[in-house]
Amino acid sequence: MDINLGGKGAVMDEKVVIFDTTLRDGEQSPGISLDPVEKLEIAEQLARLNVDYIEAGFPVASQGDFDAVSEIAKRIEGPTIAALSRTHLGDVDRCWSALKHAERARIHVFISTSPSHLEHMLKMTPDQIIKETLSGVSRARQYTDDVEFSPQDATRTPYDFMLEVLDVAVKAGATTLNIPDTVGYGIPWDFGTLIANVRKEVKGDYVISTHCHNDLGLATANSLAGVINGARQVEVCVNGLGERAGNAALEEVVMALAIRGDLFPGIKTQIKTEELSRTSRLVSRLTGYPVQYNKAVVGRNAFAHESGIHQHGVLSDRSTYEIIDAKSVGQTGSQIVLGKHSGRHAFSDTIAKMGISLQGDALNACFSRFKELADKKFEITEADIEAIVAQELGTSNHETFRLLDLTVSGGLGVMPTAKVVIAKDDETLVSASEGNGMIDAAGKAISKATGIEAELSGYQVSSVTGGVDAIGDVVVQLESEGRKVSGRGISTDVVEASARAYLDAINRLIRISKRLPDVKLEETP
Ligand code: KIV
Ligand code: ZN
Repeated sequence: MDINLGGKGAVMDEKVVIFDTTLRDGEQSPGISLDPVEKLEIAEQLARLNVDYIEAGFPVASQGDFDAVSEIAKRIEGPTIAALSRTHLGDVDRCWSALKHAERARIHVFISTSPSHLEHMLKMTPDQIIKETLSGVSRARQYTDDVEFSPQDATRTPYDFMLEVLDVAVKAGATTLNIPDTVGYGIPWDFGTLIANVRKEVKGDYVISTHCHNDLGLATANSLAGVINGARQVEVCVNGLGERAGNAALEEVVMALAIRGDLFPGIKTQIKTEELSRTSRLVSRLTGYPVQYNKAVVGRNAFAHESGIHQHGVLSDRSTYEIIDAKSVGQTGSQIVLGKHSGRHAFSDTIAKMGISLQGDALNACFSRFKELADKKFEITEADIEAIVAQELGTSNHETFRLLDLTVSGGLGVMPTAKVVIAKDDETLVSASEGNGMIDAAGKAISKATGIEAELSGYQVSSVTGGVDAIGDVVVQLESEGRKVSGRGISTDVVEASARAYLDAINRLIRISKRLPDVKLEETP
């Protein structure tokens, strides 16, 4: 295979910039709605992972997005903070207002270029697109010298028109040209050729970038094809989150480049790969999107061996059936860290070693939940602690309702019933309900007590670690008045975990409905 490493010449030691868009494109996954506080927590972990860029949101889309970008810009050190903007001048100005406090900031300007988007969404002519590109990118350049431009739906855009738009963007000052495969239409060799051709045809000093969606399951492959053809930035999401089937998964692209360095000579990322698993777990907990068991790199089965032959091989030498060292991606298994006799000091010491910093009320809330669980569970592992912290921080930040007590009864031939006691400020709400099973009864009792009717549209349960006293981790999806949210709950008892997840989702519904209404955009990415 001919390796085309792009127009910059050097083959050795070239860096591929990791542009993480979990908080922007990832957050556009159906049912995900992160608070500014949750976004900040993910951004802190992305900084620990050492990504180059964090795309923190789309500031004009909602006040929540604006606030999240602004908080992240103020507080996160290390990565450059990026935010998305349409070409409208007002959007670019708002984008900058959110970003302006960052150590380093990038404005990411986009506009659709495909005939389908021009005709059905924008109702604009190609000439208008060119003018918009020029004015949007130029405005962004007045604020920062780090400007990215994306012709949305590039892979379904007539080639010559795409080149014309990109050329205008570079002349207007874009320093990164991103080629979005918005609908996941690309096939690796074809997408790779597109990247190589853009490098050849569009003159100027810019970095070329890929943004691949996974509609055909090819997002990682397409991103790698981009890199081999000269892309020096890849846009990715943790756990492959993103619109519809998602974006290229950060962990897959990074590990493919690391493990197959023979095919990517001299190409490096600066990712601290030992942080990959923790990042994946945190994102999964806060978004409510479980990681499939057999997910490459970060799935719990990624290093599990079932057949005797494989087990024998791996016991003799890991490399017989594993290409990645589990430790190098932070999959170290669960060491026992604490038990019911561990005190507050040991708890805070352990979480500090895990890189989690908690103080005051947040620490107290996590410690008392730890004690509750330690009474029921013999060994508390790192993974359990992560689950406790994520759960407590996710709920205690702005929670309206708190579960005080739950009693359920049921059995063969007995109508399942549940009674809940819920705190709301100084009030105590008590309600009971029958249901189609104890979990259903608990959900109905919670709806009655809180007065919030919602439809349960998804339910998954998994265990945080193994063993008969394993902590059950329940994720529910609720729908109410056109809004979809997820909630998560943990407990050694699955009915309790379900009730906590249900209440967590209800608290989120309330938080979302309190936010200022989202701005209606004519075109969304
Ligand atoms: O998929 C897409 O086209 C996008 C752009 C805004 C880059 O997310
Ligand atoms: Zn996208």
